[in-house]
Amino acid sequence: MTLTLIASTLSDPELRWDWKNIKIDAREIATTIKRNAKSFFFGTATAAHQVEGGNQNQWTDWENIPGKIRNGDKSGKACEHYTRFKQDIALMKSELDVKYYRFSIEWSRIQPRAERRVWNRTEVLHYHNVIDELLRQGITPMITLHHFTNPSWFQSMNSWEHTENVVWFEEFAEFVFREYSGKVKYFCTFNEVMMYVNIGYLEGRFPPGKTNTQLALDVLLNMMIAHTRVYRSLKTMPNGKEAQIGFVKEYGQMDPEPANHWVTSTFAKFMNGYSNELILEYFMTGKMQISIPILGELNYTNPLGRKSNDFIGLNYYSHTNVFWNSSVFPPFWIGHRPEERELLTDMGYPVYAEGFYRALKRFGRMGVPVIVTENGCADDKDVLIRDTYIRRYTYALGKAISEGVDVRGYMFWSFLDNFEWADGFQMRFGLYQVNYTTQERKLRRGARFYVELVKEFNRIN
Ligand code: BGC
Repeated sequence: MTLTLIASTLSDPELRWDWKNIKIDAREIATTIKRNAKSFFFGTATAAHQVEGGNQNQWTDWENIPGKIRNGDKSGKACEHYTRFKQDIALMKSELDVKYYRFSIEWSRIQPRAERRVWNRTEVLHYHNVIDELLRQGITPMITLHHFTNPSWFQSMNSWEHTENVVWFEEFAEFVFREYSGKVKYFCTFNEVMMYVNIGYLEGRFPPGKTNTQLALDVLLNMMIAHTRVYRSLKTMPNGKEAQIGFVKEYGQMDPEPANHWVTSTFAKFMNGYSNELILEYFMTGKMQISIPILGELNYTNPLGRKSNDFIGLNYYSHTNVFWNSSVFPPFWIGHRPEERELLTDMGYPVYAEGFYRALKRFGRMGVPVIVTENGCADDKDVLIRDTYIRRYTYALGKAISEGVDVRGYMFWSFLDNFEWADGFQMRFGLYQVNYTTQERKLRRGARFYVELVKEFNRIN
């Protein structure tokens, strides 16, 4: 890993653009993308547990433990997207005019009990209805098979901690594919495995709330094994060849400041290596290797890992800086530059579109097309941040595409305000504001640029 790590860090210095002198125009971005992309679509995304309401999975169990979720929120009815999907899809069509919708199929609904290959037909039918409604409205569905949630029964068998449990997910994935692949072409296996592992097994803020490095690496390995197996098996099933199956990887740079100081750059290199490169490298070489003295080790080789994606999904939000701190231990601190603090999203990270451009360039070297499966920001006030965020990030998107990165799609996160995991309902990521009492949806002011861009793009033939 070391060599690639050094190479990737060296070739990816922190960038700063002079935004005051950059003209951002929806028509120009739309034209640039249309002219340069091999094919392209705009869309929006959600995940089942964050919007559906009425779920029962390991997250629901976690939400019932006092102190785990900000403000004591529970996903509960969430956005009632489960029952309101028709109206919601109508909004996607009539107001947003997006052509793709990424959503996840809730495993605990389809397989409510630990019974091998026993599926709940009512729930299976529900997702058929969602898919049919999307198709009726001319919107292409993209299914995520795993977006942070496990059925409670899977959690009680310690879920991804044991390799022998992977077979349950394989069977679920195969079932979903058999059921829906006749009308759905795009499938994401996993969403952000690294986040799942880091927050659930290192920080302990997500279920199962453990803090054990070796266990974290074991879980990571098992999820990557699951991805590799699922990809192989779906590709050999009917519709497999035509399907587009990919892994969704989050990416966020750790940028050292000063850039060439050995302390900051060593720490940043290690962090980038672990959280960004480890998985990407597995897809490029079939190898995953990391060793953290005393705490844990992961050493895995599987040549099948190299060709286990038809596309790679990129979730990008922002970056972090590592600053040099000479007077205390540890000799660095993690934060954001003073100028970035003016443009902090509600999640506490800055608007940094240059990082999105850098990430696209990095993903462009993966050898398969890139689909931006998530990009967006939390901004409750909706005065400045969301609008600036969308303008700058879509500008960066156009620039990367014009420079040859093979990006095939961009999905804004999120369609609706939703249940933001441990942050509860406070974080507002939606293009639509949701009133959780009345369930009214209202298109946000800050979403207008996205609507304009999609409209411009759809107008060009
Ligand atoms: C996750 C989403 C989440 C979003 C915003 C991503 O890490 O896939 O579920 O809502 O970030 O924090």
